[in-house]
Amino acid sequence: MTAMTSPPPALAQATQAFLSSDHGLLIGGARQTGQAGSTFETFDPATGQVIARVAEGRAEDVDLAVKAARKAFEGGWAGTMPIEREKLMWRLAELIEAHGDTLAELETLNNGMPLFLSKFSVSSAADMLRYMAGWASKMAGETLNPSTPGEWHAFTLREPVGVVGAIIPWNAPLNMAVWKLAPALATGCTIILKPAEQTPLTALFLGQLVQEAGFPEGVVNIITGFGETAGAALAQHPDVDKIAFTGSTGTGKKIAQYATGNMKRVSLELGGKSPMIVFPDAPLEKAIPGLTMGAFVNSGQVCAAGTRLFVHASIFDQVMESVAAQASKFKLGHGLDPQTTLGPLVSRQQHDRVADFVRSGLADGCAAYMGASSPDSAGYFYEPTLLVNTARDMRVVREEIFGPVLCATPFEDEDLSAIAQLANDTEYGLAASIWTQNISIAHKLSKMIKAGSVGVNTHILNDAVMPFGGFKQSGWGREKGREVLDLYTQIKSVAVSL
Ligand code: NAI
Ligand code: MG
Repeated sequence: MTAMTSPPPALAQATQAFLSSDHGLLIGGARQTGQAGSTFETFDPATGQVIARVAEGRAEDVDLAVKAARKAFEGGWAGTMPIEREKLMWRLAELIEAHGDTLAELETLNNGMPLFLSKFSVSSAADMLRYMAGWASKMAGETLNPSTPGEWHAFTLREPVGVVGAIIPWNAPLNMAVWKLAPALATGCTIILKPAEQTPLTALFLGQLVQEAGFPEGVVNIITGFGETAGAALAQHPDVDKIAFTGSTGTGKKIAQYATGNMKRVSLELGGKSPMIVFPDAPLEKAIPGLTMGAFVNSGQVCAAGTRLFVHASIFDQVMESVAAQASKFKLGHGLDPQTTLGPLVSRQQHDRVADFVRSGLADGCAAYMGASSPDSAGYFYEPTLLVNTARDMRVVREEIFGPVLCATPFEDEDLSAIAQLANDTEYGLAASIWTQNISIAHKLSKMIKAGSVGVNTHILNDAVMPFGGFKQSGWGREKGREVLDLYTQIKSVAVSL
């Protein structure tokens, strides 16, 4: 049983000052209350307490934000000198770091993640902006060599797609915001960002930093609000050119349908049920902490989390014992307590969803090697849970749980295609990891796995250069890396008859 750590220390003054300020929408460079004047509460999931009220944006606010974004796009942002956009993005990265302590506290307070993770989120958000900033001046079209008779100057232009609507989830609020903002800003798009209703605070703080950095008004707009109202209005809006969504596969399917109204571009980064495959020669001193973090980091609220663990039968018992021992070292508690290494789930609803899944797994015949319970707390904590005796048709094995629940299965096959079949036996295809020292197995299996990211002796490498996105029902398109430029730009081919 993992011990709960003590209550959190007091918040820094800057964090308190932000919490007690007004949390309006950011539209066209101005903070405003929603047209309907309504607000909603946001919570600390470690205590269940209300920490702030924020403006509730609805369709009419989305419409104002789209008008502001359109005006900024047509009014010169798309034509700014690339180096100018690059400088602004660097300034924003620096402001993120300068206010890193506040951002980290807000992220932890609102999402629940331990401070070590929210601090990492701050530095990776800044790095993502710097990485993408470089593309502003480096992306370009190409010259082409037609075979059509005549003399030609033929080339492509890479142009910004226009007004982008971004809808993001609650599991990594700051990073998800920056994963959308950075490519939009680099390519000369303008953006309306809708954070998840559970975690609006770091996006709102980021909005302040965007203004302080000096981006022209209307380039970045932030609408806090709910999915079925604000989110749907954004995805359906006839003057939004592209929608970028991260979240559940179910909501992603709705977004894709909404987008058909004006055939807006769509990119979707959706759910996962990612396998981790452990061979008898795996470097266990690396694999045990790697598998444990792969499954449980951020309490398993990670789209690429390793949730199906396949271990060669010859080392299955040893790996179960070691993963359980490693996971029992987690300290559950308030994320602001520096000792905490595992925070709560984001909401009561998410907690209950996870508990229901585990109950269904146990009812279906699997056994809890560890966990499968909630500690006594007003917060939404759940113990890291390792399920064995799992079978392929169980809901716990098939569906995305989004909590600290790892399903383990032994395999005896030596044949790689049989192993790949186990790994690929899912409607998802976001990530996978292979743990072995055999380079031939590592490379062959990497090719056979149907997933957008594969790690060898690491679960995933979260780095701005690595394209990220899903095969199958895990989504459309690749974020990060050079590939994200394709999502935020469109190509125009120009032929000049000389
Ligand atoms: P969700 O996918 O419904 O919500 C994500 C974002 O979409 C939020 O900003 C939300 O306001 C917005 N949204 C919801 N319905 C919408 C609609 N009809 N139109 C436009 N936007 C909409 O996820 P939710 O409901 O918070 O969580 C449900 C489950 O989804 C979780 O238990 C988890 O299993 C999974 N999930 C997966 C994520 C991933 O990255 N793979 C992220 C968040 C949730
Ligand atoms: Mg939902």
